[in-house]
Amino acid sequence: MCGIIGYLGPKDVVPLLIEGLKRMEYRGYDSAGVAVYDGKTLNTRRTPGKIAKLEAALAAAPLAGHVGIGHTRWATHGPPTEKNAHPHRSADGTVAVVHNGIIENANALRSALQELGYVFTSDTDTEVIAHLIQELFDGSLEEALLAALSKIEGTYGLAVMCDKDPNKIVAARKGSPLLIGVGVGENFLASDPSAILAHTRQVVYLDDGDIAVIERDSYRVIDAHATPMSRKVDRILWDLAEIERGGFDHFMLKEIFEQPTSVENTMRGRLILDDGTAKLGGLNLSHDELLHIDNVIITACGTSWHSALIGEMMIEELCRIPVEVEYASEFRYKNPIVTDRTLCIVMSQSGETADTLAAMREAKRRGARTLGFVNVVGSTIAREDDGGVYLHAGPEIGVASTKAFTSQVVALALFTLKLARKHDLSVVRGREIAQAMHHLPDQIRTVLESAKAIETIAEEFKDATNFLYLGRGYSFPTALEGALKLKEISYIHAEGYPAAEMKHGPIALIDEEMPVVFVAPHDAVFEKVVSNIQEVRARHGRTIVITSRDEPNLKGLIDYEIRIPETLDMLMPILAAVPLQLLAYYIAVKRGANVDQPRNLAKSVTVE
Ligand code: G6P
Repeated sequence: MCGIIGYLGPKDVVPLLIEGLKRMEYRGYDSAGVAVYDGKTLNTRRTPGKIAKLEAALAAAPLAGHVGIGHTRWATHGPPTEKNAHPHRSADGTVAVVHNGIIENANALRSALQELGYVFTSDTDTEVIAHLIQELFDGSLEEALLAALSKIEGTYGLAVMCDKDPNKIVAARKGSPLLIGVGVGENFLASDPSAILAHTRQVVYLDDGDIAVIERDSYRVIDAHATPMSRKVDRILWDLAEIERGGFDHFMLKEIFEQPTSVENTMRGRLILDDGTAKLGGLNLSHDELLHIDNVIITACGTSWHSALIGEMMIEELCRIPVEVEYASEFRYKNPIVTDRTLCIVMSQSGETADTLAAMREAKRRGARTLGFVNVVGSTIAREDDGGVYLHAGPEIGVASTKAFTSQVVALALFTLKLARKHDLSVVRGREIAQAMHHLPDQIRTVLESAKAIETIAEEFKDATNFLYLGRGYSFPTALEGALKLKEISYIHAEGYPAAEMKHGPIALIDEEMPVVFVAPHDAVFEKVVSNIQEVRARHGRTIVITSRDEPNLKGLIDYEIRIPETLDMLMPILAAVPLQLLAYYIAVKRGANVDQPRNLAKSVTVE
């Protein structure tokens, strides 16, 4: 979603802002802009569309300076036009603001400011902040910001400059991530560490309620009453290479191919083969607490919700504890049954999804223990949960989640193993699961060898207008995930369904034009799925079947077969997801779609 970058230092600020914005392109955006202080005044350039357009605008009308802020906007209030792009300026042009989040009382503030004579030039909620700061400015930008924040309701990650107090950037965080990048003789501000990683690894993550005053050689963090706050400096542990494409055509393809390693990293040091269990150091739950969980709620959005469905099956099967999976956006407004013996698992790649964060807070408020299963270290969910499991999948840049999904399922399997061994899973069965997990990285390597064959299948189906994805048991959430991957990046309508449930509706859609992807490994429900494949064939549907064995039963029923290795039923989604990712990827590429930044989607959805 929206991205913020800010810089103060000796370097030419414009290329630095542009580079930072490009590093955040993956988050999804539809307009971009910068504000630069040139030593005398503040100037802005803004364009709808991609950053290349902003670069062209800057080439036509250059800006130069050593202090500046930049923004990529994902439209909420008003369409992605130049006038709605950030930075927004105050009426007198002295203040420039970039903002992530939503100002809920923007209409009331707008009316009050209009009465004072302020003329609005955009449809955004953000513009009120610029005028408000102009109105309240009395020599100190941070004081004006504090005064403005006391009138604002909503969520924000904010960065503000003012040419009457020019050599600083002031920032504020409430519900939308921001961090200070600490350099030598220079400082940075960003909403995402990838924006500044090329320049510094030292970062200070701001907490909700923090206000930062950043100058070239110093920074300070204060609260709403201007009381100084102490915040520790963290070190970003990943490398620039991890956020670069490294020879692959797209980040998505790179991330699909990284899965043997990312899955291995999720398990590293955690899987205990001899005892058939897992060591998870961050749970912050005692042996007794783990034994006294009455029920589990897993809450998430998007792809993370699909991994949650797999986790539900694993935990219920092996630990015999009731599990409910809830869309975070629904959970947060329900009246759920939560006790102090409820464990709430919060699945989120980014750790910043607004609904997921709100759902976690609601579960916490009702007394649940919360565990964040999060990929991004230092993200809000990771900082607010009671404990958790980091995925260690490495940065995921492609908007369509791939390696984070498989790592989520692995993390859930680790957690299930640990919990089940505390309950009544035998060491023999525990070892069997741990051994099977241990083989996953090599098995994913084997699956990836089918990439060329899958590309050929993609060529055959690239012009389809609809797809159906079917599976049963553990393969049902996998089918949902396969359908989501295809629709997100290729814009082909695709639906995932439990294979047998097809008879209650989607079967009406099946004709010789309809490709049906079956996730049909040789598992406990395999024979049942064969009947469903027959039903599709009988109606001349075209079948693409993911199988794990040479099966006489399937002879004559399959148009295209994709073979994956055998593993335990509960781990099958990790192997079966990979060909589905590749199929979606190749179809989207062949249709000319922007695979890494699909239209209208954002990597991290930080609005409700
Ligand atoms: C967006 C992304 C999806 C992701 C979902 C949840 O919709 O495009 O790829 O699955 O958000 O994100 P999270 O970071 O909470 O896993």
